[in-house]
Formats: sequence, C-alpha cells, structure tokens
Amino acid sequence: MEKAEYTPIIIESLIFGKNSDYPLYLKSGENFILYRSKALIFSQSDALRLKNNGINNLYIESKDKEKYDNDILEHIDSIVKSPHLNFEEKAVKIYMYSKIYAEYVITTGNLKDNQEIIKKSIETTVEYLLMSEFAFMNLLNLSSYDYNEVGHGMNVSIYAMALANRLGFSNKISLYEIGLSGLTHDIGKLKIPKELLSKNGLSEKEVEEIRKHPIYSKDILTVNRIDNINIIDGVLEHHEASDGTGYPSGKTEEDISTYGKIIIITNRFDSLTRNRPYKVKLNVEDALNLMEQNSELYNTAFLREFTLLMSKKMPA
Ligand SMILES: [Fe+2]
Repeated sequence: MEKAEYTPIIIESLIFGKNSDYPLYLKSGENFILYRSKALIFSQSDALRLKNNGINNLYIESKDKEKYDNDILEHIDSIVKSPHLNFEEKAVKIYMYSKIYAEYVITTGNLKDNQEIIKKSIETTVEYLLMSEFAFMNLLNLSSYDYNEVGHGMNVSIYAMALANRLGFSNKISLYEIGLSGLTHDIGKLKIPKELLSKNGLSEKEVEEIRKHPIYSKDILTVNRIDNINIIDGVLEHHEASDGTGYPSGKTEEDISTYGKIIIITNRFDSLTRNRPYKVKLNVEDALNLMEQNSELYNTAFLREFTLLMSKKMPA
C-alpha cells in the first residue's frame, strides 16, 4: 500500500459544528495519528483544548485537500449572506479567515496553493465593505490589533479598497485587484535578510538593497503567475512619490498609476500609525496632518478623500 501524504491545516480554519468529509490527524514525531474520524463533529471546545496543549495545526491527507478547500470556500462565501450572524460578527469572521490565508501568503510568498481562497476572502471583504459605510470601521477596529507584517498587509489592503470605493471604483473586480495589490505590496521583503529590515543605522548599500523590495514583490507575484498590470503597478509603485523623490524608479505623478497612487497613500498612513522598530507611532490625526504637510508626495485629490475617509475614525 502506498504511504499517505499529509497536509497541515490551521485549527482556526476548521468550521465548528460541521462534520467533515475527511479524517483529521495529529502529528507525533514523524508519525500521523488519527484525531477525528470523518463525519465526527469538530467543536470550538475541541479547538480550545488543542490550543491549550500548544497544538496549532492538524493534518489532513493530501488527497482530501480539495474537499477541505471547497468547504472553506463555501463557508467564506456564506458569511456575508448569513442570517445567523450580525453585522459585527460578519466582520470578525471575514477578518479571521482573511488573516489565516494572508498570513500564509505573506510569510511564505506562496499564492498559488491557496489562490482560490485568497481570492474568495478578498471578494468577501469587498462585498462586506459595500454593504454599509460602517463596514470599513468594523474591519479597521479588528485590524488595529495586528501590528506585524501580516497586519500591515491586511490594513493596507482594507484601506486601499475603502479609498478606491470612495473614489468611485464600484466594480468588484477592480476592488479585488486593489485589495490583492495592497495585501502583497511588501511580499518582496521575504527576499531581504531579516536583520537588515530591523537594523538601525543602515549603510548606503543596505538602503539600496531594501529599496529593491517593491521589485522583489513584483517578481514574487510573477512567479505566482499574477501578471495583472494593475496589481503589479500597485506593488511596484508603493514607495514612489508624486514629486519624483520616491523609489525604486523615481516616477513622478504623471507616470504613477491610479492603483499606485492609492497604495502609496494607504501604505504611508499605515506605516506612520503602527509600531515599528526605531519609529514613533502617530495617532490618526497626527499622521494625516504630517501627510498633508508633505502633500507634494501624494496625489492631492486622493489624499483629501483619504483624510475624509479616516476622519470618521478621529476622536471627537
Ligand atoms: Fe514597502
């Protein structure tokens, strides 16, 4: 008999109260032990028990991956329309699923393996954002707890979709493209040594290397067969500036794409308002004021709309 192959799955991704079509396994050393036979229900308390024992992953047989993916796709798709969840609960669920797969993409640079689920989670976020003007705030309240690279990617993605929507992008495909561009804009940092990214006092050569990350982001998207020019422009241009002082190309306002202009503003804003080594974190108002003072760096009409979008979140 051929030896079975196993694929790790994140516990949070399992759908509570549902009996799966496939068995779940635990890994012990080099061996895989049956944890749940198929058709047995997996509950939230099961998940908690595993977590309390320091277990984050279960395994499925690789041949069942397609069934598992289909379950997740179906589940994500049902969140927005679910009559059992209130508006805030929907945001929590959408954010949780988006985060699981965003984390995988941002930490591995692999979009191919979960392409359908990533697409579905961004599309679901778009659907949710379009439901009400309060949807954006609900998602932001959740994202403000995640101050790491994954949280940054998700924030920029959510800000960018909300800004694009405010600018009149009502086409769901465009909003999805902007969302994916925002999510993956910094993915090229995976190709830069970690020590360099958190180092204080960089040499000229090191700065030069770090400044290549938008090009590396494009390369990673290309390897993953994402060649949509809008998505590529967004990642490639996220550190450009309207006055030509940005990098990697020093493009000016006329040469920066619309997606680029959106990601430049949303990336800068999230960078200013999050915790980073050697940088002071600004509150929303101070960050917007600082950007306004340096408005030559941005498309000013887009910056104005972004300020209006964010001003709802400002303290009264
Ligand atoms: Fe960046």
